[in-house]
Order: sequence, then C-alpha cells, then structure tokens
Amino acid sequence: MASTLRGGNRLEVVRAVTTAAAAAPAIDPTLQDSLKRAVAKRAVELVKPGMIVGLGTGSTSSMAIQELGKLVSQGKLKDVVGVASSYQSRILARQYGVKTVDLNDVNVIDFAFDGADEVDASMNLIKGGGAAHTMEKVVDAMAKQCIILVDQSKVVSKLGLTFPVPVEVLPFAISPVLRALVGLGGVPEIRNALRKDGPVITDLGNMVVDVRFPDGVKNPAEMERSINMIPGVVESGLFVGIANTVLVATRDGDEITIVELADFVRSLKEATASG
Ligand code: A5P
Repeated sequence: MASTLRGGNRLEVVRAVTTAAAAAPAIDPTLQDSLKRAVAKRAVELVKPGMIVGLGTGSTSSMAIQELGKLVSQGKLKDVVGVASSYQSRILARQYGVKTVDLNDVNVIDFAFDGADEVDASMNLIKGGGAAHTMEKVVDAMAKQCIILVDQSKVVSKLGLTFPVPVEVLPFAISPVLRALVGLGGVPEIRNALRKDGPVITDLGNMVVDVRFPDGVKNPAEMERSINMIPGVVESGLFVGIANTVLVATRDGDEITIVELADFVRSLKEATASG
C-alpha cells in the first residue's frame, strides 16, 4: 500500500511524527472522523465468515463495530461473533446486531480491531484514553491477528510526549501506586470523571491514573514492565508487541488513503528528506 502526501497535508503529517513539542497537531474533527470511518471500514473488510472477532473500544472501534453490524445484517458475514473489550463495545455490538460471547467461552480470537491514542514506528502503543485498556489488552493479546486503526494524527516519533500513559489501579492501593509512579519519573494524576463528581471508575471497578513523562517514554517495553510490577497496578496503557498491523488513515489531497504504518513512516521520511 502506498501513499503520496501532498501540500499542507504533508506538513501537518510530518509535524505529527517529528515534533517533540507538548501539543499534538490540531486535526480538524470532521476530517478526523472521516479518517476514522475510512480505516474502520477497511478493517471490517478483513473479517471473514465464522470468525471470532475482538471488538475494541473508543470512537474508531465503535465505527468498526457499526460497519461490522451492517455486513452481518446484510448476510455478508455469517457466523461472526464478537468478544467485547468494554461495556461500550458490548452494548454497541448488540445494537448493531453483532452477537457477542464471553471471553472465557472462546479459546482463541481470530481477529481483533482496536484504536489507539498514540503509535510509534515500532507499533508500540499508548491506549486507555477511554479507560478500557485492561480489557482491551487481554482481548488484543489473545487475537491471532490484532489490527490497530488510527488516523494520521496518532502517529508519533516517541510515545508519551503528548499523551499521558493511563494506568488502571486498585482503589485500595492508590497512594502507594502514585508514589511508585513518581519513582519511575512520572507525573501521575488521578483521572476525574466529566459527568460525575470524583474519579473515573473503570468497567472493572478500578481507578485510572494518567502518568505524564516530561521527556516521553524512552523504552516502552521496559516502562510497561516497570509499571506493571508495582503492586496495586492492574494494567498499564503501554501496549508493546501486541499489534500485528497498524493501519493509518491519511488525507491525500481530497482523498483518504489507508496505508500500513511502515509505508506511512517511509513516506514521511522521504517527505522530510526532500524538504
Ligand atoms: C479506550 O480505552 C482506548 O484505548 C481507545 O482505544 C483509544 O483511546 C482510541 O480511541 P479513539 O478511537 O476514540 O481515538
């Protein structure tokens, strides 16, 4: 899959990957939604009849669940069942006619799709913007094929410069975990709910701590291990070695193009080299 990046779009994309600045490049929300929808449709084209499909969480995954439901209700994908990674994905699957089964009732997941908050060139991810990363990690890791769906604004040169690392924590252990996260060089903050007073409580009944790393995450694999070793941590939002494929939706002039991450990164390097 190839991509040609043109004009203002190229600059915007190059900035997304090369910047070390704190703020992510602004992306027009309407464009971002179109990119998410396009990559969601592409993912669903890869689903085959009879598959057990891991259903990610978040806005991109929600679009993919809707698209999957359309194909199921048109009779184009017979005997597909979903394994949800959150209440959100389970409710949506039911609404759109995708039958779901419990994770514990399957031995394998054939294919999983999921979104991400940040992706680096090695397919390491930050997830958990929607506080669902613990269940997502179980579902995604169980899949024979885990496909991550992102728009171009999510691709970064280094994880953690713009997006904090979400960590799900047992409420009982919140204070020692906060101290241990500071010990790892992080600046942790308990995530508060928007339409509820107090903290976000996950689908599993825990709290979420967003950890900023002022210089980004130097070694994602090591940091994932270190965070997960803290007693009281349920799971970190660093996903290392889980994605098999990352599909990136980019704007190519007036067109939307879906490319694999390696092709996207190569295009950016070529674009940067040619000035
Ligand atoms: C859910 O907790 C997250 O891991 C999402 O998958 C991630 O935040 C991506 O979400 P969007 O597709 O909404 O950007």
